[in-house]
Order: sequence, then structure tokens, then C-alpha cells
Amino acid sequence: MELSTVPYIRWAKYEGLMGEHRLTASAVSPIDWSDIGLDPATLKLTEFSPYGPSEVFDRLQEDWGVDPSGVVLGASASHAHFCFGASLVKPGDVIIHEVPGYLPLVDALSMLRVKTVPFQRRFDESYRLDVEQLKKTVIENDAKLVLLTDLHNPSGVSLDKKTLLSIVEMCEVTGCHVLIDEMYRGFLDPDPGPACLLHPRIISVWGLNKIHGISQVRFGWGCATPELADRARRVFDSTTLHTSCLTDQVARAAMTHLDQLTQRGRRYAQEGWGIFSDWLQQQDLAVIPPDGGLICFPEVPQEIARDGDHFRELCMEQGLNVTPGRVFGASQHVRIGFGLEEAQLKPALDILAKVLNPS
Ligand SMILES: Cc1ncc(COP(=O)(O)O)c(C=O)c1O
Repeated sequence: MELSTVPYIRWAKYEGLMGEHRLTASAVSPIDWSDIGLDPATLKLTEFSPYGPSEVFDRLQEDWGVDPSGVVLGASASHAHFCFGASLVKPGDVIIHEVPGYLPLVDALSMLRVKTVPFQRRFDESYRLDVEQLKKTVIENDAKLVLLTDLHNPSGVSLDKKTLLSIVEMCEVTGCHVLIDEMYRGFLDPDPGPACLLHPRIISVWGLNKIHGISQVRFGWGCATPELADRARRVFDSTTLHTSCLTDQVARAAMTHLDQLTQRGRRYAQEGWGIFSDWLQQQDLAVIPPDGGLICFPEVPQEIARDGDHFRELCMEQGLNVTPGRVFGASQHVRIGFGLEEAQLKPALDILAKVLNPS
């Protein structure tokens, strides 16, 4: 087995931070302690709870009616994702994953000597998930697990109700599990809630990283049936002891401010998209409008650049950073994050316009 270099994460940690102007972010800008009513001087270094603070379980139950015994809080959303995914497959099993997609989640599960099979979400089909085709791929490969994101990272396209019901039918017919990363779901207004409520073989993962302005705290969880969560907890117990006590205290405080934080995050998304879509009207750039969130995934115009990496090079010559689509498995694209304050977004878009319209 080839150990993945996890290209997106390495890119995000170094190249992603370059440039005076950046359209690379997929999370809203950070909040302050006061936004969650927490005085950092009161943080304790001695807290301990076996599986995380009860306030988080309570809030998830209150908001979505999920059974707390079906919830596993991870050291991060990816950790929760791994705990559920790893508890459902054995070496040699097939996992199907979307491309373009958030591939670090696939890289983690690949270490279990499973076979990973890509499934295309096509730009020319507006990144719609073709569930009929997906079902055929599951059956042909006898796949045990399907990995999806909703909203789709990198395009921001959502799984609508009809698509979700087709996924439910696919679970029924094939017996496979579907693990959905729903980190960006809260950008939808109203939030349709976790897909795990639709079927016992669907697992939803989300957390506090994207919309709530506490992205560096990296707190996330997975929700499913109590039986699946019990299996996931075995992976949890073998990959960490318990969640960080500092993270727990921040997460607990965030639970009493979730609505305000969500409204704030949605405001970034709406205002950013407003500015970006106005700008787009003057540009010759093919973009599938996202259903929510802070990102979109246009195709690079061939007359401007060979591929997304080349396009980024041209942007970087003018001090602007964008994310090359290669790291999501689609090299002809770039991911553009528009969830910035106007004062940062407008100058960045001016540069992008210059790259798209060389004189
Ligand atoms: C779809 C998706 N899932 C998971 C993550 C990572 O979350 P965490 O750092 O909590 O694992 C990201 C990016 O931050 C993401 O875009």
C-alpha cells in the first residue's frame, strides 16, 4: 500500500498560507472569546469526561432529536469520520468516494488496506450526485461504504431532498453504509438537519470548524445509531484517550451561542457570494453556483492557463492565492473561497479579474 502524501493538507499548511491576498479559506474568520461568553482565564487544565461534554450531546439532541448514545465526539471532525469509517470496513473491502472531493478523509481510511474506488461528480452536470450510477457502482464493486460531502467540498453544491431519498433507497437495496461529511450543511438556511436521521446505515459528521468561527479548535462529531456509535467508540478508544479538555470547554461554551455563531457564519457566506456573483457577471468564468457556504469550484479557462496549478501561478505573480483543483482530484479547476470581509474580498477579485483578462 502506498502511503498518501495527503496533498490537500500539506498544501493548506504551507502554500495555502502564501500570498498577500487569499481566496483559499473555507471557514469563516475567527470569533473572539466574548462571542462565546468565555473568559480564557477560567479555563481549567484538569477537566475530564470520558467521551466529551454532556452539553454538546444535549444540544445535538435538542436541535435534531438525535439519541446521545448515537453520537461520538472526535478529536476533530476527521477523527470522528475515521472512527465511524474504520469501524465499518475490513482489509480488502471496497470504499467508494466522490471526486472531486475532500480526499484527506479517503487517505485516512486507505491506511486500512481497503480498496478505494472514485466516483465522479461532474462539472458539466452541475456536480449533481447521480445516485442511480452510484448504486450501480456500489453493486458492481460490492462496496461496503460510500463517502460523500454535503455541501460538496469543493463545489458547495448540496444534496437535495430527492437525492437524499435516493441514497436511502440505495442503502436499503445494497446494504452499504453511507458516511456523509456535513461540515458545511449549517450554511443552508434553514439547516435541513443531519442525513443520519433518514436511515440507520447513514452516518453524519459535522462540527464547529466551518461556520462557527472556531475553526482552529477543530471540534467535530459523528451521529448514527447507538450500535454504529458503539463500534466507532472502539476506534476512538484506540486512537486517543479522550477529547482535549481545553477543546471541551470551548465547545461547551459554544453550545450556548450556536444560533448567533451560525447567523454570523451565514452572513459571511451571503455577503461574500453577493459580492462575488456581482463580480462574476463581468467575467468569462464558468462557475456552478454553490447552494451555500464560502467556496465554488470553477473550471480554468484554457486560453488563460493549462490547468489549476498554472492558473494559481499566474495569480501568485500578482500576490493572489487560490487553491488548485488537483488537491481535490480535478486538476483543470481551482477552488475559490469568497467568504471574506468586503475590504479583503474586493481587492482580491480585482486581481483575479486581471488574471482572467490579460491585456
Ligand atoms: C469537508 C471537510 N471535512 C473535514 C474537514 C476538517 O475538519 P477537522 O479538522 O475537524 O478534521 C474539512 C476542512 O477543514 C473539510 O473541508
